[in-house]
Amino acid sequence: MCGIFAYLNYLTPKTRREVLDLLVNGLKRLEYRGYDSTGVAIDSTDGKDIVLIKSSGKVKILEDAISEKFAIDNKIDEPTLIHCGISHTRWATHGVPSEINSHPQRSGSDNAFVVVHNGIITNYKDVKTFLENHGYSFESDTDTEVIAKLVHHIWKAHPKYSFRELVEQVIQQLEGAFALAFKSKHFPGECVASRRGSPLLVGIKTKTRLATDHIPILYGKEHRPHGTNGRDMPVIPRSESTSEFMPVDDKEVEYFFASDASAVIEHTNRVIYLEDDDVAAVNKDGALSIHRLRKCTDDPHAREITTLKMEIQQIMKGNYDYFMQKEIFEQPESVINTMRGRLNFENGTVTLGGIKDYIPEIKRCRRLMLIGCGTSYHSAVATRQLLEELTELPVMVELASDFLDRNTPIFRDDVCFFISQSGETADTLMALRYCKQRGALIVGITNTVGSSICRESHCGVHINAGPEIGVASTKAYTSQFISLVMFGLVMSEDRISLQQRRQEIINGLKNLDKQIRKVLELDNKVLELANDLYQHKSLLIMGRGYNFATCLEGALKVKELTYMHSEGIMAGELKHGPLALVDHSMPVLMIILRDPVYAKCMNALQQVTAREGRPIIICEEGDEDTKSYSSRALEIPKTVDCLQGVLTVIPMQLLSYHIAVLRGCDVDCPRNLAKSVTVE
Ligand code: AGP
Repeated sequence: MCGIFAYLNYLTPKTRREVLDLLVNGLKRLEYRGYDSTGVAIDSTDGKDIVLIKSSGKVKILEDAISEKFAIDNKIDEPTLIHCGISHTRWATHGVPSEINSHPQRSGSDNAFVVVHNGIITNYKDVKTFLENHGYSFESDTDTEVIAKLVHHIWKAHPKYSFRELVEQVIQQLEGAFALAFKSKHFPGECVASRRGSPLLVGIKTKTRLATDHIPILYGKEHRPHGTNGRDMPVIPRSESTSEFMPVDDKEVEYFFASDASAVIEHTNRVIYLEDDDVAAVNKDGALSIHRLRKCTDDPHAREITTLKMEIQQIMKGNYDYFMQKEIFEQPESVINTMRGRLNFENGTVTLGGIKDYIPEIKRCRRLMLIGCGTSYHSAVATRQLLEELTELPVMVELASDFLDRNTPIFRDDVCFFISQSGETADTLMALRYCKQRGALIVGITNTVGSSICRESHCGVHINAGPEIGVASTKAYTSQFISLVMFGLVMSEDRISLQQRRQEIINGLKNLDKQIRKVLELDNKVLELANDLYQHKSLLIMGRGYNFATCLEGALKVKELTYMHSEGIMAGELKHGPLALVDHSMPVLMIILRDPVYAKCMNALQQVTAREGRPIIICEEGDEDTKSYSSRALEIPKTVDCLQGVLTVIPMQLLSYHIAVLRGCDVDCPRNLAKSVTVE
C-alpha cells in the first residue's frame, strides 16, 4: 500500500535521465503493493529548482510524462556528482487519485520542500488549520500536504536548523502512521527520511567494504513536553551529531530509501531497517546518520546493517505472464523451502529454530490464539483442528480487525500467533501490540524478514516462501499452512499417543511437493472450467472439516481477482440459509474428499443436486463414486486428511487466476486492493 523510493548519489556521477530511470524502476518494483497514482521529484537541469512530475494511473503513464517533460532538454544527459530524487506510488486515502493529490506533495509553488508519504496523518486537520492561520493555502485533498507545508513553516522560524532537525520538529507534530522521505531546494543533495508505523529501509551501496556493520544512533539530550496538535510549535531539543557514518576508503556512496527490499535488491543487498521514530539523514557531505529524539532504557546504541538474502530473479516474472501465476507454480519449491532444515524425514524430528527456546513456555499456556487478516487468517482456520489435536490446547482463530473491535480479553498465559505474509498489516500489528501490552507471548509467522511483525514478536517462524509479488496471496498461504502444521508437530513430539498420527503427517509432508506438481497438471482442465464460469455473476464454494478453509480462501481469491461475487460456505450450514441460493443456474463448487466428514459432504451434495444444482466437484483421484454425481470433476491426489487443504486450494487459485484473465482483470494488482495493508 503506497510505495516510497528515493535515491541519492554522492560523488557517483549520474545524469538526470539515469536518476529518473532508477526512480521509475524502483516504483515498478513497488507496483505490486497496490497504488493508483505516481510521482517523482528531481532537481531541475539548471540545478536551481525542484521539478515535480506526477500522474494518476500506472507507472507507465508517469514514464511517458517524464519523457514528454524532458523531450527537448539536452541537459538531462549531463552528469551530476551529487543529487537526490524521491518518488512515490500512492494508494488514495484522502482525496481521489489525481495528479494534484499524487506525491510528492509540496510546501508551495516554488517547490522549496517536497515530501512523499505512506500512511495516514490522523491530526492533519488540526495541523492544516494551524498552517492556514499562518497564511498557507492548500492545493490538494491529501493529509500529506500539511507535512510539506509544516516543514517549510518551521524552516522559516528556524532558518539555521539542519534539514534533519527540521524533520525532527515536524514528526513531533504528527499523529498517525507514516513513512516519509523529504527533499528540499534549500538542502540540495540531502535527503531525510523517517517512519512511524509504516515500513522504511535504507539501502547503502559503496565500492569498497563498509567500515562498520552498525550505524550509531544519536539521541536528543533532553525533551520538552509537547502535544500541541498544531496549535503551537514547540522547540524540540537538537540531538548531537558527532559520530556520523561514512564509508571506509572513499566517499563515493549511493543511498536508496524504500518501502521494501524488492526495490533495492538489484542495487545493493546492504540495508538498514528503520524503527519507529528513527530519523535517517544524508547530509551535504554524503554521510548517513540515524537520530532519535529520546532514549528509552532498552533502546540500542546502533542500527545494524543487514545483508539481504533475496535474489533479483525472485522478484522477476520469468516466463510467466503474471506474478500470481508464477507464484502458484512455485509452490512445489516454496513448500520445500518452508520445511528445509526444519523437518527431518528420517527420524521424524522437527526443529523450529525461531521458537525452540519458547516451546516449554508455550506448552504451559492457557490457550493458543491465531490472529491474522484475509488469506493469513484462512491459514489459521485451515490448521486450527490439527493444532487442537496435536497440542491438546484450546485454539482460537481471530480476524485481527474484529479481535481489536471486541477488546478481546488477553492474559499473560496466552500465546498469540500473528500470521502475516507482509509482516506489516496494520490490523495485525495493532492486535500484536495489544496482546504484547497484556503480557502474552507473541509469536510471529511471517514471510518478510525484517518486517514490523517480525521485529516486534518475542519469537517466530519465517515461512520462507520467497517474495510474493502478486496482490493475491498464494504460495504464502500454503507455506503458512505448513509452518503451523510443523508447529503442531513440535508440540506433540513427546506425546506417545500421538506418534502414529505424527508419522502419517510427516509422510504426507514428504510427498507434498510431488502431489502439488500433480495438482498443477490440472491447469488446462481448470481453464476449461473457467471458460464455463467466467460470465457468471456468482460462485458458491462448499465444503467442511479440513476443507472449509479452502472454501473461504477460494471465495476470497475469486472475489479479489475477478470481481465476481463468491462465497465460501460451510456445508453443514446449507440448510440454515444458503440452500435457498441453489438452483439449476447457480454455479456451485463442492469439495468432497474421503475424510471423516465424507458422509456429511455427500449429504450436502445430495441436497444440492435435489435442488437441480449442478456442482463441480473436487474429489480424490480414482473416487469414481463421488465423481459420478457430476459431469465436471477435478481429481486431486490422496494425502492425510489434515494436509488436504494444501492440495484443494491450488485448483481454487488456478480457477480464480484463469477467470480473472478471461474477464480482462488486472491479475497482479486487482482494483482497490494493496499487497500490504498498512492502514487500519
Ligand atoms: C490475499 O489474497 C489478500 N491479498 C489479503 O487478504 C491478505 O492476505 C491480507 O491483507 C493479509 O495480508 P498479510 O498476510 O500481509 O498480513
